[in-house]
Amino acid sequence: MPLRGFEGRLCYGGDYNPEQWPEHVWVEDVQLMRQCGVNLVTVGVFAWSMLEPAPGQYEFGWLDRVLDLLHDNGISVVLATPTASPPPWFGFAHPDALPVTRDGVRLVHGSRDAYCPSAPAYRAAARRIATALAQRYAGHPALALWHVHNEYGTVCYCDHAAAAFRRWLRDRYGTLDALNEAWTTAFWSQRYADWEHVLPPRATPYLANPAQLLDFRRFCSDELLACFREQRDVLRELTPDVPVTTNFAIAPWVPIDPWAWAREVDLVAIDHYPSSNDGLAAEEETAFVADLARGWAGGRTWLLMEQAPDIVHNGGWMVPKRPGQLTRLSLSHVARGSLGVMNFQWRASPGGAEAFMSAMVPHAGPDARSLREVTHLGAQLANLGRHDGPVAADVALVWDPHSWWALQGPGLPAPGLDYWAMCRHVHGSAWRLGVTVDIVAPGEPLSGYRLVLVPALFLTTASAADAIKSFVDSGGHVVVWYLSGVADTNVRVHRGGWPGLLATTLGVRVERHYPLPHQATVALDPAGTGSSWSELVRPEGAEALLRYAKGDLAGEPAVTVHAGRAWYVSTRLDDATQQRFLAQVFAAANVAPAAPGAGHGVEVVRRGQRLYAINHTTSPAEIGAPSQGSQTGLRIEPGTYLVTDVDNLVTDIDSAAHR
Ligand code: GLA
Repeated sequence: MPLRGFEGRLCYGGDYNPEQWPEHVWVEDVQLMRQCGVNLVTVGVFAWSMLEPAPGQYEFGWLDRVLDLLHDNGISVVLATPTASPPPWFGFAHPDALPVTRDGVRLVHGSRDAYCPSAPAYRAAARRIATALAQRYAGHPALALWHVHNEYGTVCYCDHAAAAFRRWLRDRYGTLDALNEAWTTAFWSQRYADWEHVLPPRATPYLANPAQLLDFRRFCSDELLACFREQRDVLRELTPDVPVTTNFAIAPWVPIDPWAWAREVDLVAIDHYPSSNDGLAAEEETAFVADLARGWAGGRTWLLMEQAPDIVHNGGWMVPKRPGQLTRLSLSHVARGSLGVMNFQWRASPGGAEAFMSAMVPHAGPDARSLREVTHLGAQLANLGRHDGPVAADVALVWDPHSWWALQGPGLPAPGLDYWAMCRHVHGSAWRLGVTVDIVAPGEPLSGYRLVLVPALFLTTASAADAIKSFVDSGGHVVVWYLSGVADTNVRVHRGGWPGLLATTLGVRVERHYPLPHQATVALDPAGTGSSWSELVRPEGAEALLRYAKGDLAGEPAVTVHAGRAWYVSTRLDDATQQRFLAQVFAAANVAPAAPGAGHGVEVVRRGQRLYAINHTTSPAEIGAPSQGSQTGLRIEPGTYLVTDVDNLVTDIDSAAHR
């Protein structure tokens, strides 16, 4: 369903929380928004206590005035349902609906997210406020999009959750015998004889059951999705022409399967806060999450619903973005399919737990460098306009949240097996080589690609293995990294050697894991180093490209290739070696950068007839036309970008002068 009013133009704006300010500030807000080119704001995300100050008593007057004011100034609204933060009265009225931690502590209001997703009282209260909002604002001309809740992810271990978990397990397994088998309950005397004895993974004396933990995450994803659907269905019924979304958070703690959720929203929307600003880490991570979002959206457009306009969370510190970085990162999202650029938040909060988060209007007031950047970006986006051409990619990366969750489980061969970091390392290496990557779910058909990258597909199902096998059988190229094919969907270990169902395709059999101690490296022959992980790999048809040079594995294969197109990598290659290796793979698979000259911080994405080129480096860069294979063409000044027609390399749209 199209985003009304945004045909041909990009969205620009952010979360707007006018309830934190007196009304005279709203007038300044909309004036400034117009100056900055803001055309869309998200309203009401955390406004439940202001909208429903007592059960069933609504105060919509202030929100009426906000929406009218925005509409009068040409600004559209993403209207949120405020169900991520029930008001204090809610917990007093329904103490059983407050969340309980795995240690059995019942949490109370005072922060946000104080609810149990399975509690009937919470579900009813959420539906009621969503209904009241939809009834009130159906037909309001400012309303462009519904934003249900905020960053779904709340987990609860209470009795409501336990009952719902049991229902979910009965649906999944049918019988207790099947559950016992799937959870390997013969181990440590965990066998269940009564459904009522099955609990969420509450605090337990020693290592918890990995399959129980994993299923609980899956249950949480489905239970929260049920919460979303209930509200979505109310909104669809009352406002059938308004699309409905929710903003996906991307973090290890989030129990959401975005592949499943993406099928339920009218528009995929994500929040992204890069976790490091060292070197080009934020740039690489931005490209990765934008590619993820496009993957979840099935290759179609999606929306960056939140980013921080002026900070990166760098190892716990809030560090200001570098000059021009806001524009460059935003352009990366747009190039990779976002319908625009939304920020958290419009005006910095006067107090509260997020008062020091950056905002489009900082505490310093409008006369500040950050607002100048925000204004500059607004002008750039208006100039660019919207262009929905498909992103061109010959390479796919298989991404699996269930493997991510399982690799956070207990009893693994080594601590810190970081699935996210492993995927980032593979995707980042391709990014550094200038190659655009699509992200796909395990089991999806791969026939449109030349090359498929498979980092740490820890839980490998038959359908995922079959998709890879038939891709390779029909001439495709694949690279599989260590920790793939280790277990099935219930973390039951594959017998007969790893990578399990992928072993024949790769022509190898891994006999034994040799996790490497933290910060240890192992030399490779003829060059390079491995870290984090190593394995005893037996070739069964494959040839060794790199071997371990020292230690217990000296002389054994570290990287292999089978039939010239199926590679297996058994250690974390250092950056330079991984890039050299991937460059070799790209050449074999006939994969080229998005344009000659792309890579090493010069990000180039081809989208339909448009070429987006962003120079994240401090040196001038030059890129050529993809069809001509020559690197001479357009010069891109350090820290700037340009958007051109793919064949002509004519700058038909202003390049960013900002530095
Ligand atoms: C998330 C939330 C916002 C806010 C920001 C702050 O993305 O959705 O409500 O808390 O983080 O970084």
